[in-house]
Amino acid sequence: TVEPPRPLIVKGPEVEVDDGKKKVTIFFGTQTGTAEGFAKALADEAKARYEKATFKVVDMDDYAADDEEYEEKLKKETLAFFFLATYGDGEPTDNAARFYKWFTEGKERGEWLQKLQYGVFGLGNRQYEHFNKVAKEVDEILAEQGGKCLVPVGLGDDDQCIEDDFTAWREMLWPELDQLLRDEDDPTTATTPYTAAILEYRVVFHDSANVLVDDKSWGSANGNTVYDVQHPCRANVAVRKELHTSESDRSCIHLEFDISGTGLSYETGDHVGVCCENQSEVVEEAVSLLGLSPDTYFSVHTDKEDGTPISGSSLPPPFPPCTLRTALTRYADLLSSPKKSALLALAAHASDPTEADRLRQLASPAGKDEYAQWVVASQRSLLEIMAEFSSARPPLGVFFAAVAPRLQPRYYSISSSPKMAPSRIHVTCALVYEKTPTGRIHKGVCSTWMKNAVPLEKSHDCSWAPIFVRQSNFKLPVDAKVPIILIGPGTGLAPFRGFLQERLALKEAGVELGPSVLFFGCRNCKMDFIYEDELNSFIETGALSELVVAFSREGPTKLYVQHRMTEKAADIWNMISQGGYIYVCGDAKGMARDVHRTLHTIVQEQGSLDSSKAESMVKNLQMSGRYLRDVW
Ligand code: 2AM
Repeated sequence: TVEPPRPLIVKGPEVEVDDGKKKVTIFFGTQTGTAEGFAKALADEAKARYEKATFKVVDMDDYAADDEEYEEKLKKETLAFFFLATYGDGEPTDNAARFYKWFTEGKERGEWLQKLQYGVFGLGNRQYEHFNKVAKEVDEILAEQGGKCLVPVGLGDDDQCIEDDFTAWREMLWPELDQLLRDEDDPTTATTPYTAAILEYRVVFHDSANVLVDDKSWGSANGNTVYDVQHPCRANVAVRKELHTSESDRSCIHLEFDISGTGLSYETGDHVGVCCENQSEVVEEAVSLLGLSPDTYFSVHTDKEDGTPISGSSLPPPFPPCTLRTALTRYADLLSSPKKSALLALAAHASDPTEADRLRQLASPAGKDEYAQWVVASQRSLLEIMAEFSSARPPLGVFFAAVAPRLQPRYYSISSSPKMAPSRIHVTCALVYEKTPTGRIHKGVCSTWMKNAVPLEKSHDCSWAPIFVRQSNFKLPVDAKVPIILIGPGTGLAPFRGFLQERLALKEAGVELGPSVLFFGCRNCKMDFIYEDELNSFIETGALSELVVAFSREGPTKLYVQHRMTEKAADIWNMISQGGYIYVCGDAKGMARDVHRTLHTIVQEQGSLDSSKAESMVKNLQMSGRYLRDVW
């Protein structure tokens, strides 16, 4: 999902005002802003419907400083809603991680939530194995501990249309809330139809002659050493290399960011977030569709001229003043399919009534199938749709608030180890370049940027990007003697290159290493066997004990890493029996799921277990941190 980033939460002293109104708390666990947007939309609509209640939208992380405070505060809640996204391998979002760990791993508390009435809406993707795991689990535990569930847990599916799932869930909720919060004196409150207002920033145009260079506002090495998504670090591209041979018709880029002197640090297995830019051709197209000069210098504001906030709390935080060209380059997601709310915003600014009607139809419940087909399945980009509806010319304040979501950073598993490359962050990135059903060539924003990046090796005027590091728990065992099994086809190899660099450094420092096996897969040994020489030298130096390769397109039938695992079942079982760790990295929907099944079969057959015993053994490996997955 590509959504506006989370705003900075300004923490202040909490003032609980007892004005006789019922207090409703709406929590969100968000990574890209979707859950937060839904939480705020629910609050906005509920505020309009129920005068006798107050609604507070709360970031799960800001709610409490520690476990005791979570318990103490949650115990007092009487009506609460939880918007919780599930990521990667069934994990909570960063801002819900602390709450989730405490809530799910907590000791028996009994029925301590008896005062609480609640609802949970999950955000996930059905293509993934752990679909909405976080929401389902929180819902279950809330009920177990005495909470009364007002509506069944909502299972938002990002693979289809998550906005529709949210709307349907909300429609189920209103009758319940009417009973609890309706103002008896005013029979109209519950029936007044509510139409969400179209979000809009206040825009101020500036005289470009008085304005500083745009780059000032875009992450720089300013002595700040705590870098995160809100405060990225400017890093030059030191090296860029193609990893596929000329025989391949695809591309995979090895890129090195120079982090020397920035204070930015990382650990083997961490992820790097890259704030990438749209290609100039994409920006030019957007400029012409908006019908404005690219040099228009403007700023966006969430308050009115008199300083009072613009009504509705859901406006994404403003970006710094800049030209339209810069704003479209850095802040606007132009190539994803627009959400229904974006279609409505376009409709509101379409001068041709036929176009406006058709946009509204696409966004309406009746247009559900057409939206699913014509927009989502066809992968129509925002720009394609704006070209199709050429009378829709939203003003800048609407375009950046309601039409184009914020361009999100892209995350990559770091493919180096700081033990080998302390001043570099290596990235291994497959180029996204595909023809969509409408015949458009879709070029991935970040991978295309990387493919075209000019490295310092080639020019002093090299490419750079704002980056930051996200910690992961994908880490080597503390004891280097513990056996490890690494499974990473394609760019799933990335973190293992880091692991092997780390092991080599340990070995050179005299540390004794346990056995290790790497299962790598690609299409053809002559085309996309990335880092082949390096892998061979890891074998020679003893950083890696065994390399097992599956070439999927060399023979008459597909040969995948899991087929190789089956051939090596006895060895794998041996390593597991000796306390070994298993690591899987790569595609979650196909490969990681198939590898998981194979692992289950190996455990069952080699351990002579029945299926359920094998399953609980694999589960135990997972729970004890010996079976780790870095999947996307
Ligand atoms: P394919 O493209 O020939 O199907 C890296 O992308 C390698 O992973 C490729 O060789 C690719 O093969 C293979 N791959 C694709 N789907 C897979 C799956 N479900 N399990 C394991 N490997 C897979």
